[in-house]
Amino acid sequence: MTVTRILTGITTSGTPHLGNYVGAIRPTVAASRTPGTQNFYFLADLHALIKVQDPAKVQRSTLEIAASWLACGLQPDNDRVWFYRQSEITEIPELTWFLTCVASKGILNRAHAYKAAVDRNREDGEDDDAGITTGLFMYPVLMAADIMVFNAHKVPVGRDQIQHIEMARDFAQRFNHLYGEHFVLPEAVIEEHVATLPGLDGRKMSKSYDNTIPLFAPRDQLKKLIFSIVTDSRAPGEAKDTEGSALFQLYQAFASSDETAGMRAAFADGIGWGDAKQRLFERVDAEIAPLRERYEDLMAKPAVIEEQLREGARTARERLGTPFLRELREAVGLRDLSKMPVSDNVETQKIAVPPQIKQYREKDGKFYFKLTDGDDVLLQSHGFDNPKDAGAWVARFKREGAAALADANALLEPVADAMRASEALDALKRAEDEREQARAG
Ligand code: TRP
Repeated sequence: MTVTRILTGITTSGTPHLGNYVGAIRPTVAASRTPGTQNFYFLADLHALIKVQDPAKVQRSTLEIAASWLACGLQPDNDRVWFYRQSEITEIPELTWFLTCVASKGILNRAHAYKAAVDRNREDGEDDDAGITTGLFMYPVLMAADIMVFNAHKVPVGRDQIQHIEMARDFAQRFNHLYGEHFVLPEAVIEEHVATLPGLDGRKMSKSYDNTIPLFAPRDQLKKLIFSIVTDSRAPGEAKDTEGSALFQLYQAFASSDETAGMRAAFADGIGWGDAKQRLFERVDAEIAPLRERYEDLMAKPAVIEEQLREGARTARERLGTPFLRELREAVGLRDLSKMPVSDNVETQKIAVPPQIKQYREKDGKFYFKLTDGDDVLLQSHGFDNPKDAGAWVARFKREGAAALADANALLEPVADAMRASEALDALKRAEDEREQARAG
């Protein structure tokens, strides 16, 4: 049985929040322990450069995200679980180019992120591509290379990423079609049962809405943020709706089913919002506090994280990336020249002889002409009694090229390859014209 390779990337363009924890980090760390799988988790720092062009921020985010995943229990062993930086796998940019050369531009034109940017420009009456970098346009190709460099089978992602996985499949198919079966076709895995967490204002928790709760906010800040969650104006003692309550949904994402049932009852009994927030804070903090401690410890030792990431990249390249790219280079024709059979060289060096038309006499005493290209006879005339008649035809072919063929049917043997004969005659005519001009000039 072959192992299933599972791979996902995290763009290093921000600070992890509770939504990332519930939606990605927690389920992924749990899944990494599934037997029969090989897991590849990486910091998509090359993707980050598309969005973030502040070097200090890229570095900071990379450290925070790496520390978060490790603090939440990811245990890279460089055998079943790898954790690395995208930018250290130098095979990724190389593979990106191979894929760029098979990716159709029309498909990239339809990528959601790029199309949305174009649509915004159109609304603003700007040029379609105003302010859009090629990096944004190429985003899906780089992402395909991330996945394909380790030939991952399954890619856990959010819904907004499904299109990118479909594109990766398309590039893989095109490459396989041209160069043989080198890539498996990756599949998106969408976690249906994992909750999307609401943010402070009740909309989906997202950096772009500025409504997030940082995963490792210090305790007092976590409390302040939880107390700022938007609620309705019902007073203590009034029954409250769990439906549509951000507070309730947040609680549910951290609580056991018994605890959730308890909170539902408290809502019905008219728990005050302040008390409900206190309960939520305590429940979240109970889960996060031990992780926060590990996080703070890791953040104080960036050299330890650096070493782990380097080891991850080094071993993943050594075991998989480097040998695979060697295979792919060979497949596309970037090959060792010394291994080329010498007879092939000689073949291509043969000097091409242009087509020729020649007149000659056979033993039967008659006069003939034939059109040859190398060893191949393209046209063969019947025998003429008079050499002048044969000569006149030869002259006419040289003057008119393939145009003369229409009148020549009766005096030729059946023509095997009319197309090739026509081309040869036209080449002959061009050579003759040039000679004529040279003589005149
Ligand atoms: N584009 C992904 C996101 O924004 C991050 C990412 C980069 C990724 N490369 C990947 C995810 C490869 C899965 C596989 O969420």
